[in-house]
Amino acid sequence: MPYLENELKTISRHFQIYGEILHAEPLKIGHINETYTATYDQGGTRVRYIHQKLNRNVFKNPAGVMKNIVRVTGHIRKTLESRNTPDLTRRALVVIPTRDGAAYHENGHKDIWRTFVYVEGVQTHEAVQTPAQALQAGKAFGEFQNLLVDLPGGRLVETIPDFHHTRKRFENFQKAVQTDSHNRAANARPEIDFALKRQAITGVVVDAMSQGKIPERITHNDTKFNNVMLDVVTGEAMCIVDLDTVMPGCALYDFGDMVRTTTSPTLEDELDLSKVTMQMPMFKMLAKGYLAAAGSFLTKREKELIAFSGKLITFEIGLRFLTDYLSGDVYFRTHRPGHNLDRCRTQFKLVESIEKQEVAMQKFVDKL
Ligand SMILES: Nc1ncnc2c1ncn2[C@@H]1O[C@H](COP(=O)(O)OP(=O)(O)O)[C@@H](O)[C@H]1O
Ligand SMILES: [Mg+2]
Repeated sequence: MPYLENELKTISRHFQIYGEILHAEPLKIGHINETYTATYDQGGTRVRYIHQKLNRNVFKNPAGVMKNIVRVTGHIRKTLESRNTPDLTRRALVVIPTRDGAAYHENGHKDIWRTFVYVEGVQTHEAVQTPAQALQAGKAFGEFQNLLVDLPGGRLVETIPDFHHTRKRFENFQKAVQTDSHNRAANARPEIDFALKRQAITGVVVDAMSQGKIPERITHNDTKFNNVMLDVVTGEAMCIVDLDTVMPGCALYDFGDMVRTTTSPTLEDELDLSKVTMQMPMFKMLAKGYLAAAGSFLTKREKELIAFSGKLITFEIGLRFLTDYLSGDVYFRTHRPGHNLDRCRTQFKLVESIEKQEVAMQKFVDKL
């Protein structure tokens, strides 16, 4: 249930905004957050801000989430400033503190609200349409990671523990098959077999990390294209949003999820599996953009696993959809019977497509 304008006006008064609120309206009521735009008059000029309600069911530690966001955005801004980069407040989100100096406001309903400077002259797209956009996406997330390599002040809060622990995800899947609480395993036999055959890949990255062969880095963890704001005139990626899941992770998780979400022309729950395919031109531009920005800090081992990461993360998400299907749809919201199984099939089809092209994909990366 979206917030009403009057309630937003009340909430807005808690933030350090020097102006008079004129109006407010919903921008995106997403699965996770509710985002509103508010227009203020400041000395005769109209200025916009973003007021956003955080989902407390997903983020159990809102203070940790906001602490991470303040550190990350502050550091990116400082670095860009030191490089004399123009357009600073369009290139890094600016968190507006509350009048008490806190990063968020908790209102009477126990809802958590935060406020950002509204970035003007940008747009987001739900899906990548052109290889040029794939290049921008790769570059933007690579640069985001690059800017955070030297974040001072210790480890970020791990706000969702084991987010990409593929081995644990696999164990949960096995448990769901054994329990078969909703008698659905029989309907998903080919998918279960598909997953069981690929158990070996689930340990590759987590084991390398625990053995210190791949470094822990700061990652975004939600590298969908609609989290990249592009300049409306030039199409250049300006600013990364949706920083709730920024936390310690593996650089490859971000790249892998980009491969999953941007290289197939289809949606996550496409029913016509013949359309689900890893398109090489998209991958090439994604990798080119990503390595142009991240190539300087990635280790040899990380670079060797670039193509593999696309397969791994797509498999992991497919596995999670399958686990949820078997457990009675408790985590992902479904809109039709069998929705999670459909989503699983789409992911697994994409895994197959990546498997067929993995050698060629990595060959391309090696030459960059
Ligand atoms: N500071 C901002 N300035 C302008 N638009 C923004 C800003 N923050 C978010 N948006 C827009 O709102 C959308 C949703 O915000 P986001 O933080 O990604 O929430 P969600 O979790 O719903 O995806 C973004 O895709 C972007 O288009
Ligand atoms: Mg988003």
